[in-house]
Amino acid sequence: MADDPKNPLNRRQFLQRTFAFSAASMLAGCGSGINYATQGKVDAVTGGTLHFIALGDYGQDGTPTQQTQVAFAMAAYVKKWNLSPSALLMLGDSFYGSLPGGAGSTRWQTQFEAMYPDDTFNCPALAIPGNHDYEVLPVSKYEAEQQYAAETQGTRWTMPAQSYRVSFPDVNPIVTFLCLDSNMPNEPAQPLPTGHFYTMDDASRLAQIQWLENELAQGTTAPFTIVLGHHPLFSNGEHGDNQTLIRDWGPLFQQYKVPLYLAGHDHDMQHLEISGYYTSFAMSGGGGQFLYPLPGKRHGGYSQETYGFTHLQITTEHIIVRHIDPNGKLLHKFTKLLDGTVQM
Ligand SMILES: [Fe+2]
Repeated sequence: MADDPKNPLNRRQFLQRTFAFSAASMLAGCGSGINYATQGKVDAVTGGTLHFIALGDYGQDGTPTQQTQVAFAMAAYVKKWNLSPSALLMLGDSFYGSLPGGAGSTRWQTQFEAMYPDDTFNCPALAIPGNHDYEVLPVSKYEAEQQYAAETQGTRWTMPAQSYRVSFPDVNPIVTFLCLDSNMPNEPAQPLPTGHFYTMDDASRLAQIQWLENELAQGTTAPFTIVLGHHPLFSNGEHGDNQTLIRDWGPLFQQYKVPLYLAGHDHDMQHLEISGYYTSFAMSGGGGQFLYPLPGKRHGGYSQETYGFTHLQITTEHIIVRHIDPNGKLLHKFTKLLDGTVQM
């Protein structure tokens, strides 16, 4: 059935589960210029269909009522369809408010490890920084997130560097994720100045463009390369378009025919097709923090002020993107084919 996320054949192929990632670190705090690769045992398959669950803007400050609601919905959805996600795609703003103790904060247990339990999500959680992760409250939350990934035994939290690549599965991958830091210097969309918000510096911005271009030019044997970043290039939401990302990344997406860019930041769910772009733009910012009103549909497409998460179902032929609400209801779906065609 075309709209059935369950793939029974896939279940029999979950025999060997490995993935590989490589990363280029550009943060002084985690070893400037270091390139490294590592491998680990995770949920991925050697063929067939892969499933990923994406969410953004989840790290609610105070009592995480809505974050918990979305997390429950994710777990119920995965169980209902008997999915075994290959990864959680954590699209940033992982902790609003203060993170006392940094990597030792109790919020790690309540708002990550227990919130998205490993008996349901037995897979790596690929994390990228949002603007709230750049806050220093009272320590740098971004540095704490990288430290937690590096030093916490057995955690699924994965944040090896400012920019990193992960492919699934390790052998004959069908999808490569390029995980980026979208916190651009001097971008007006940033809520500056508050005394708490920071961004990367311009040298890091330029280095990351070079890294992205190298990765895209080098290519991968995977039929699909998906880029992840917290900030959208284009958005119907309150924050609007990000001119720095449009200028820096847009031409690369177009040149190398990136099929999908997945972001959050605006607290809603969106899917935009932008004239002149090969790339489909999907936003999943309904992970838990309070919603933003949608001022209008400047780009057309789909946008909805709602909590939710996103299910990616990927084969060698297509990427199916489904936005799901906290009741497990399908909000919006589209399919990106290998030739770039979008089917609604
Ligand atoms: Fe954000």
